[in-house]
Amino acid sequence: MRVCRVLFRAMKINILPSLLSADFGHLAEGAKMAEDAGADALHLDVMDGHFVPNLTIGPQVVKMARNTVKIPLNTHLMISNPDQLAQSFIEAGSDTVQIHIEAECNVPEVLAYIRNQGVRVAITLNPGTPAEMVFPVIEQVDEVLCMTVNPGFGGQSFMPEVLPKVRAIREKAKELGLNNMDIMVDGGINFETGRECAAHGANRFVAGNFLYTADDMKATLAELRKVTTEAFVL
Ligand code: DX5
Ligand code: ZN
Repeated sequence: MRVCRVLFRAMKINILPSLLSADFGHLAEGAKMAEDAGADALHLDVMDGHFVPNLTIGPQVVKMARNTVKIPLNTHLMISNPDQLAQSFIEAGSDTVQIHIEAECNVPEVLAYIRNQGVRVAITLNPGTPAEMVFPVIEQVDEVLCMTVNPGFGGQSFMPEVLPKVRAIREKAKELGLNNMDIMVDGGINFETGRECAAHGANRFVAGNFLYTADDMKATLAELRKVTTEAFVL
């Protein structure tokens, strides 16, 4: 119990607005809005129309965000071939690069490559992918991103069936002594679902629609930080 309390204090709760829900006619303002609201980092969703049935942004938009805000940039690559494209997103200014375990490449090799470039690296898994799939690479990453919707679109409903998987990944990290492992959730996050995820061991929360449609992003973000901090269980 005492050890858990010490670890709890060390584990930081982060809130990341997803730029996908900003006004695409004013993306720089959308990035600035997140920073001004107190975001810990900005989440950037890259989709290739192949890995997911939608197309979004490329490295130019990450570069624009880098030139616009000072907060870290968290780049979520929903693409089939991160082996060919990760480098361009690193050069554009990403602080964390997140690739999918379901990608069509040698995942351990690409994770090692990204880390060697001096940026944080995360492995991501879709709602239908079992936790065990990421265990072989868990020691190679700074973060595990658990999708809580099927990737491709903002504004979808949270899938509660993912919660036991969040817990299983947190338990595995603890078992391996990976006490600083970040566990992020992405998709359908609001006060209620954020609280649930925190209670299952998640400490980083992406929120698109919930934050960008809020009347007061700053107050909503602060409240999301508060409810998740209170609910967080390592
Ligand atoms: C979904 C993206 C998410 C999305 C989350 O494919 O990976 O980052 O922007 O948006 P909300 O919070 O609206 O579900
Ligand atoms: Zn995302």
